[in-house]
Amino acid sequence: MFQYHCLNPIAGVGLDLFSQDYKKTDDINQAQAVLVRSASMHDMELSKELCAVARAGAGVNNIPLEKCAEQGIVVFNTPGANANGVKELVFAGMLLASRDITGGIHWVQENKDNENISKDVEKAKKAFAGCEISGKKLGVLGLGAIGVKVANAATHLGMEVYGYDPFISVNAAWSLSRNVKHISNVEDIYRECDYITIHVPLLEDTKKMLNKEAFAQMKDGVVVLNFARDLLVDEVAILDAIKEGKVKKYVSDFPNSATAGKEGCILIPHLGASTEESEDNCAVMAVQEVKDFLENGN
Ligand code: MLT
Repeated sequence: MFQYHCLNPIAGVGLDLFSQDYKKTDDINQAQAVLVRSASMHDMELSKELCAVARAGAGVNNIPLEKCAEQGIVVFNTPGANANGVKELVFAGMLLASRDITGGIHWVQENKDNENISKDVEKAKKAFAGCEISGKKLGVLGLGAIGVKVANAATHLGMEVYGYDPFISVNAAWSLSRNVKHISNVEDIYRECDYITIHVPLLEDTKKMLNKEAFAQMKDGVVVLNFARDLLVDEVAILDAIKEGKVKKYVSDFPNSATAGKEGCILIPHLGASTEESEDNCAVMAVQEVKDFLENGN
């Protein structure tokens, strides 16, 4: 009988894959496997029983990788399982930055008792006019599972797409559309693109990758999107770049105390992977990985 512990809720459809040989335990110290979504395991004691940790998501920043390696605990993640959910929200972000959808929704709400609302729509149309993303240049930094999906989908929306990734995997390279221009110099993306979206993992080398120097090279009025990790973007530098008019909008799935409520910031509370489908996919993949490992050792 294997014992597993769920550190925070992952979808039932994944857990259903466990057979009667598995028992959910409340005592993390008895578990052979831990399934975790976003809770941090950094301050946790890792018991001797623990053999596997599965993160239902792509990033592994909430897992103490070195501690796990020292104790021989195998760590899994679920690359690609939530890529579709994140990709779709990236486009919602691009559209929110380009069309004043939020302003329009507020206007209707404020005018809900206005008998002439349908006539006044004409004035609102002018006030909330925006621009199209079709025909604009999009730079995708990082061509992993999510970056590739964003890049490919953008070509179908008529965007001119530039991708940058010094470590692109064979799988990603194969699935990248021929219409995406692969750029070897990130500076070219900074210089050329109207929209820049970052999809790299958070590592020592990528921390604050989008910083003062990067913003200085970008086009005036660029839209920057971050659906990867908060610390990839230097928050002081982006707020300065917004004030200077260099960055028109900063769309981020990671609100924090520096950016929340600030002019030019469109912030969403880490909803990229929060779709029924992505949650199910991640849970199924995480459970399958743990099962295969405990039962077959791979
Ligand atoms: C990820 O790393 O894939 C996301 O952070 C997943 C999540 O939102 O739980």
